[in-house]
Amino acid sequence: MSDFSTLAALSRDFPALATRYQLADGRITRRHYLDSAASTLAMGCARQVADELLPHYANTHSQAHFSARIVNDAYDWAHQQVLKFTEADPVRHTAFFAGSGCTATLNRLARTLAAQRPERNIVLASLMEHHANDLPHRKHAGQVVHIPLIGQAPALGAVDLAALERLLDHYRGRVNYVAIAAASNVTGIVNPVHDIAALAHAYGAWIVVDASQALAHALLPISDTGAAERELDVVAFSGHKLYAPGAPGVAVARRALLEGNEPDEVGGGMVDDVSLAGYQITRRFPDREEAGTPNMLGAAQLGAVLNALQRVGMTAVHAAEQARLRQLLTGLAAIPGVRIYGDPDLDRTPRLGTVAFNLDGLEHGLVAAVLNDYFNVAVRNGCFCAHPYVRELLKPELWTLDIDPDAEGAALRLKSWQGMMRASLGLYSDDQDIAALLAGVRALQARPNDYRAHYAADGEGNFHHRTFAAPGRTLFDPEAALDRALAQLTARPAML
Ligand SMILES: Cc1ncc(COP(=O)(O)O)c(C=O)c1O
Repeated sequence: MSDFSTLAALSRDFPALATRYQLADGRITRRHYLDSAASTLAMGCARQVADELLPHYANTHSQAHFSARIVNDAYDWAHQQVLKFTEADPVRHTAFFAGSGCTATLNRLARTLAAQRPERNIVLASLMEHHANDLPHRKHAGQVVHIPLIGQAPALGAVDLAALERLLDHYRGRVNYVAIAAASNVTGIVNPVHDIAALAHAYGAWIVVDASQALAHALLPISDTGAAERELDVVAFSGHKLYAPGAPGVAVARRALLEGNEPDEVGGGMVDDVSLAGYQITRRFPDREEAGTPNMLGAAQLGAVLNALQRVGMTAVHAAEQARLRQLLTGLAAIPGVRIYGDPDLDRTPRLGTVAFNLDGLEHGLVAAVLNDYFNVAVRNGCFCAHPYVRELLKPELWTLDIDPDAEGAALRLKSWQGMMRASLGLYSDDQDIAALLAGVRALQARPNDYRAHYAADGEGNFHHRTFAAPGRTLFDPEAALDRALAQLTARPAML
């Protein structure tokens, strides 16, 4: 292993940082990617690892030939990287890959944990959860009761631990598990998951942590002190939010939670023997949890990212991001008419690199369109698959609007105002990205009507430029890309 430890070099190792687009005013500029909470950009060195695996590509589940052995080893290595990254015990825990993201993993876990303790049919989930850590539990695990947050909208904070304890007591003996985000995908606010684990365990409940918005930004060990009562029972996350596009969803779980019941999915690769009369499921982890052919390339890429991040150290990654986050929050707060959601006091309520905000009197759809079309700033707007949380944060404003839901046009008015902007950081976010966002917001606040005149709203609350439309197919045309690749192929001398 080389002693690579340069955060600065790793932060620039993202080929997509060079992406440029032509804007509505004709300028061609570098894209400022501030949408990492949705998906992060691809880390170059990890992509290279996957590319180097390609010549050996073959299916796993066999040791018969060289390639199968190489791929099995690489897939194994990816599992080990996940366990190391979360400081899990490779004997008591297992890491397994499932589906194309955290949603698949959480659905699997909800079904599995419900089957383990059907008599406990209550799940406690926080009010800030992404739908992926709420709806699977509603569908598969019984009744979800939502835990309130500290404070008042729009300055809501983390999960209210006193309220959580009251709920655990109220539903004593019936709570199967607490489902909680390590950090919100809307505000970046961090929940004290190890304190929550200790509380849940005191009442015999397990804890499932959705770490999708946490692991790229900060250290999240399975136990912060090593004490068993503070250990997280399950940590789930998405590889595509960790610089490895195309990587699968991941779970780190205590083996004891999975053993005893048949795995949720069955098929090839997870059985020791099958006869016409029955089948014998393997006791090996993670094999028993990974039916079917796995996504080896995605897993290897993710393993490489986790390894690279460990070399630079998550403490350094976190410190660098916190500096940028403060820069972003201070810059936005200094612009008149900008409202930031969630408790703005970072010392009282820690956040990771995500900020949700609105501009007074301007629809979030219009703001997002202008930032993209005139400033090349890629942000996201809407409710971010966290409708109950966003509605709660917006409650005071929605009341002021006083929209009569039965009045004509009420649905569109609601869509236009029920939502917010989100800017989110990654390893590669720099001063210029933040400056571009702040410049766009300032310009919009200064001349809202000039910008508004260029746009028409559709029935969904999206705003479309009246004269400028980025020509999608000329920016990337898959068929033209294939044509180029095939032309290179025919130009190459035939190899015998
Ligand atoms: C906190 C959180 N949980 C779960 C998910 C779902 O992830 P995926 O779409 O990769 O399944 C997301 C995606 O935005 C998220 O932010």
